[in-house]
Amino acid sequence: MDKNGSRKIKTILDCDVGHDDAIALMLGASHPEIDLIGICAVAGNQVLKKTLTNTLHVVQHLDLDIPVYAGMDRPMVRDQIVAAEIHGETGLDGPVFGPLTRKPEKEHAVNYIIRTLMESEEKITLVPVGPLSDIGMALRLEPKIADKIEKIVLMGGAYGLGNYSAAAEFNILVDPEAAHVVFSSGIPIVMMGLDLTNQALADMSVIERMEKLGNKAGKLFGDMMRFTFQTQRMFGLEAGPVHDVTAMAYVVRPDLFTTKPAYVEICLDKGSCYGRTVCDFYGIAGKEPNALVGTGLDLPRFWDFVEENLRRLN
Ligand code: BDR
Ligand code: CA
Repeated sequence: MDKNGSRKIKTILDCDVGHDDAIALMLGASHPEIDLIGICAVAGNQVLKKTLTNTLHVVQHLDLDIPVYAGMDRPMVRDQIVAAEIHGETGLDGPVFGPLTRKPEKEHAVNYIIRTLMESEEKITLVPVGPLSDIGMALRLEPKIADKIEKIVLMGGAYGLGNYSAAAEFNILVDPEAAHVVFSSGIPIVMMGLDLTNQALADMSVIERMEKLGNKAGKLFGDMMRFTFQTQRMFGLEAGPVHDVTAMAYVVRPDLFTTKPAYVEICLDKGSCYGRTVCDFYGIAGKEPNALVGTGLDLPRFWDFVEENLRRLN
């Protein structure tokens, strides 16, 4: 509840900042109906030291008073992979930040997630937009947290083509075992996969529109997405997709998206389909749907929404 008595959606963002992660963070921090109570940094796009540094830079740059926690520095089972060819050596190549003074909290992100959920009187929405290592580990350490989670709105997976193997999307491929824990938890899940997120392309007209806001947030959007613009050609895309932003946007604006229920299973066989999100839309396996899978979005209204929120920031 805020000071005006209106209910806000208590939310924790778990991210591997990352260009699109940073924009999801900006959205969560600026929307008046989202109460972004904590940000967890996990290894993914780059090693943890770098994703944590990038998260702290964004929070400091925009003067956001939200605690940042360091999470898992590696996947649960498999060897670590990073996405330097997409996000650069720092994990957030493009923008230039000043000296970093913001510090992370001392508590580990996994302990923070468990403690916060168990202490909370109301349910909390989790928005993981990186590998699911923190959420999977938290569920294994304290399964009771499942009852305290309103829903998990995540970016990951695909029912069509993968982007890090022919079959798998990066976030799920980085930690398929953690993704299995999450998808088999019984918690309501909204899955924003590549089929939907590749539609959210920040082309030059979008970049210039955000830059014209004239604030730090608009400039940061431009500095980041001008970099990402260059790295997407390998996927046949004409511009950089803001994958993770769709997950945060769904929390308050589900009307911008179309979704379909499906039973989603994570392939854990170590062959060419390792990390694939197998989406059973037709109920062929006879299992109840465990996720709402994103299929489409209203792009013009989505960009209006992003712009309206970036305008609220410094
Ligand atoms: C996902 O992987 C990362 O590179 C992006 O930040 C996004 O979360 C897309 O596959
Ligand atoms: Ca991400």
